[in-house]
Amino acid sequence: MELAECILKRRDTRHFKSESVPNLVIQRALQAAHNAPSVGLTEPWRFILIESEETRRKIKDNFDHMRIEAESTIDDQQKLKLHKTLKLESIMDAPVGLAIFCAMPEENSYVLGTTTTIKKDILFWSVACAIQNLLLSLTDQGYSAGWVSVFDFEIFKNILNVPNNWEPMGYLCIGKPDTDYNGQPMLQKNGWKQRSPEPVVIYK
Ligand SMILES: Cc1cc2nc3c(=O)[nH]c(=O)nc-3n(C[C@H](O)[C@H](O)[C@H](O)COP(=O)(O)O)c2cc1C
Repeated sequence: MELAECILKRRDTRHFKSESVPNLVIQRALQAAHNAPSVGLTEPWRFILIESEETRRKIKDNFDHMRIEAESTIDDQQKLKLHKTLKLESIMDAPVGLAIFCAMPEENSYVLGTTTTIKKDILFWSVACAIQNLLLSLTDQGYSAGWVSVFDFEIFKNILNVPNNWEPMGYLCIGKPDTDYNGQPMLQKNGWKQRSPEPVVIYK
């Protein structure tokens, strides 16, 4: 697939077919992630493939809890009604679950390309680059992912029992897409928000 086509076709997906995802597809996607740029060549991305049904259930419960909390902050009743109809995850139904973390370097260690004050953010940006590579690789292979971030991240860390210096970046639900939402973001298709037609660019 041409890169431009792959970028256009990539879709955040919450509706999957039940068929399983070959391990080779996942390994290729993880390798694409690993080929991302990273500040000071830190390669801070860390991946956990969730195999246990019980762990998935705990992650889903965490999501459900935070969704209710998020919805309690929406005052506009019409927006709230629409929000309740949106499928914002497929933790229990997607064939593959992948948790992604950013490993923070030791306190006060020197990382080329960072200053001490914004080191944390720059490492996050590096993992975001890796995740985009992963998403594009899945698209290229005919698969898709949905990025879930509605969690209490402290609980999320505890469920997966990760080292203290691993900061959560989210959870990807991965599988064969059951729809392409008519070639647009699902949130646009469902009337939540319209995509802006052009990027904001300022010439100075
Ligand atoms: C950092 C990040 C976190 C996201 N978290 C969620 C989420 O928790 N639930 C969800 O349904 N979509 C989530 N999304 C997906 C966005 O809603 C989606 O990318 C956006 O609506 C545009 O749609 P598209 O990716 O299909 O172009 C997230 C995306 C990003 C980049």
